[in-house]
Amino acid sequence: MSSIKDELPPVRIGLLGLGTVGGGVVNVLKRNVLDLSRRAGRSIEVIHASARRLDAVRICPLDGILLTTNPMDVVENPDVDVIVEVMGGMQPASSLIRRALALGKPVITANKALIAHEGNELFALAQNNGTVVAFEAAVAGGIPIIKAIREGLAGNRIEWLAGIINGTSNFILTAMRDEGRSFADVLAQAQALGYAEADPTFDVEGIDAAHKLTILAAIAFGMPLKFDAVYTEGISQLQTEDVRYARELGYQIKHLGIARRFENGVELRVHPTLIPERRILANVDGVKNAVLVWGDAVGPTLYYGAGAGAEPTASAIVADLVDVVRTRTADPTHRVPHLAVLPDQITDLPILPMSEVETGYYLRLTVRDQPGVLANIARILADHGVNIEAMIQKEASIETAHLPIVLLTHPLQEARMNAAITAIETLDTVQAPVVRLRVESLAG
Ligand code: HSE
Repeated sequence: MSSIKDELPPVRIGLLGLGTVGGGVVNVLKRNVLDLSRRAGRSIEVIHASARRLDAVRICPLDGILLTTNPMDVVENPDVDVIVEVMGGMQPASSLIRRALALGKPVITANKALIAHEGNELFALAQNNGTVVAFEAAVAGGIPIIKAIREGLAGNRIEWLAGIINGTSNFILTAMRDEGRSFADVLAQAQALGYAEADPTFDVEGIDAAHKLTILAAIAFGMPLKFDAVYTEGISQLQTEDVRYARELGYQIKHLGIARRFENGVELRVHPTLIPERRILANVDGVKNAVLVWGDAVGPTLYYGAGAGAEPTASAIVADLVDVVRTRTADPTHRVPHLAVLPDQITDLPILPMSEVETGYYLRLTVRDQPGVLANIARILADHGVNIEAMIQKEASIETAHLPIVLLTHPLQEARMNAAITAIETLDTVQAPVVRLRVESLAG
């Protein structure tokens, strides 16, 4: 067998960012050098890298890598063939990527915020310059979900997908459930372990998941990226008692990103969701991610794995690198399109308002312990067409004489549920805002 290295020169990588993920990329490229060159047909070497500080402690060796604090030097280096961007954030990442694309260099990025906000423009720029932006690492860490939807499921009409796509939120929810720990305490641990975003509100307010859902929906439905249209709710307001009550009713609360296609438009939503505990997704715990995709031909398929961390993210980046290296000699118009369909076939679809979404609801009401309370609530629910599926009533608190009532409803339109909640909250026996969570059966 002839040596691959003897036949073609190595592909030379410029790495923007040498933190956790950048270090992981260097380590994976070095450790798997032989397998990678067999797969890509050439060896892949990082030759130039930028970092904010050159004297920081690194998780990877730096031999053979020219270092700089100016990332534009890396982009402009004529010896660099491919750019890997793992700095995160909007700027300067956006300007650096745009310059690289203008130079015709393929870009591989883990930057979900940038793709969600500017992907439509970046893909057009790449196309105009005969190059590509690859972003497998932007969604669900090491899970090859973009490749699965874009290529593996290309024979299907994707009907819907639902995913646990923020590892930090899942880590926090799991610890709140299993250890009864407070939200703040678990968040601090997730930050220390390097799972959380630089600004952890992105994780706990659902923004990071909304970035990822934007990308998944665009690929699943062949539509433009529409981050601003995603209904976004995080886990920061979730109470430990609701996690407990949900379990008593046979459900787990998971933070889900849901995209579903209807005849008249698309639902895009990110929020805490009760799902039946028998579903595999309900048992995806800790920092793990999972995405359930429903295709008309294949039915449900589930993708599970590490959603964050140095080497899981590097796994996705290096897979993109192998793809890019494989296609460097191919006609750009025959590469796999960024959003799964040819650029002139991207179809704009209306995004349905949350008021039209139909789902089940978990309600927790805090009421005064006196006769007729339940009858009044039941009457309001009946007047609004709310069908109750299950109910539990807990003991009243000795200090306040307030008692929690927990209800599960059959699916109904969100606008009707909101109207019923507003009416319930006007009752003088109702002592606190109604806690409302959505319930999904995830069954077809
Ligand atoms: N902060 C992200 C998460 C990292 O927790 O999922 C991976 O995108």
